[in-house]
Amino acid sequence: MRIALCPGSFDPVTYAHLDIVQRASRLFDRVHVAVLENPNKNPLFSLEERLEMLKEATKNWSKVEQGVFSGLVVEYARQVGASAIVRGLRAVSDFEYEFQMAAMNRHLAEDVETVFVMTSSEYAFVSSSLIKEVVRYGGDVSRWVPPNVKERLVERLGKRGQ
Ligand code: PNS
Repeated sequence: MRIALCPGSFDPVTYAHLDIVQRASRLFDRVHVAVLENPNKNPLFSLEERLEMLKEATKNWSKVEQGVFSGLVVEYARQVGASAIVRGLRAVSDFEYEFQMAAMNRHLAEDVETVFVMTSSEYAFVSSSLIKEVVRYGGDVSRWVPPNVKERLVERLGKRGQ
């Protein structure tokens, strides 16, 4: 059984992330999507909130399971039996960072392959940071995040939340 790990901050999950998870689930038998607990970052949503939103968004996808991790992604990949880490590439600008991570991960764990998947062009410009900025200034993000995520964003950042 081929298992893929899709790791990320998911602060919050967007349709761009979900597009990658869906593409991964066409290539692998199971896809384990995992939220990073990173004490050095200051996320908008808690680990529990990010996981809840991810679970809600993927609840009907039979091949997909969700989790949280801290520490090295390659160690977590081994823990869940994943042979590959799947990452989305939106544009050339993503490449440098992704290349560095993939190279380091290969040095750390030769047996865990990184697989890059091209994001759908309709989401090529979508990032969690940009989404948060749009909501902060009162813009509508319905096209790029699931309804429950939009609701939480507006509560936390939007005009109603202020
Ligand atoms: O959604 P993001 O923030 O682009 O995801 C980044 C993530 C979680 C994939 C990356 O920060 C990560 O793997 N962190 C865990 C620590 C680690 O293993 N770093 C890679 C070694 S270079």
